[in-house]
Amino acid sequence: MSGLTRFSVSLDKSLLDEFDQRIKQAQYPTRSKAIADLIINSLVEEQWAGGKTVSGAIILVYDHHKRGLTNKLTHIQHDFHHLIISTQHIHMDHNNCMEIIVVKGKPTDINNLTRRLKATKGVKHGSLAMATTGDKL
Ligand code: NI
Repeated sequence: MSGLTRFSVSLDKSLLDEFDQRIKQAQYPTRSKAIADLIINSLVEEQWAGGKTVSGAIILVYDHHKRGLTNKLTHIQHDFHHLIISTQHIHMDHNNCMEIIVVKGKPTDINNLTRRLKATKGVKHGSLAMATTGDKL
C-alpha cells in the first residue's frame, strides 16, 4: 500500500442500501474497508487465474484407521514437497484427523495437489482456501 487516496463513488441508492446492509452484517467498521476487501478479493482471483505465485491452505478430514491412507497422503505430499510450507495435523476425535497443509506456488500445481489428496480413497472432506502471498496488494 502506498498511502490513502480519497475518491467518491456514485451508486444507485438501492444498491448502496443493499451494500450497507451487507457490510453491517459482516461487521465491517467502514465502507472503505469493505470496498478495499472487494477489490483485493478480485485481485487475488486474478492472481489465481493468471498463474501468479499464490498461497493457500488445503484442508483434509479423514479416518486414520483406514488402512494405508495416512501413508498415501504423506506420499502424495512428498511428490509436491516444493509447494508445501507447513502442515498441521489435528486429532479431531478417536477416528478422525484433520490436516491443514499450507502451500505456496503456481495455481496449477496447487490445484493438482489438492485434487490428488481429495481423490484419495478414504478422505471424507477436502477443500482449498485460496489466498495470496500478499505481494503487490
Ligand atoms: Ni490424527
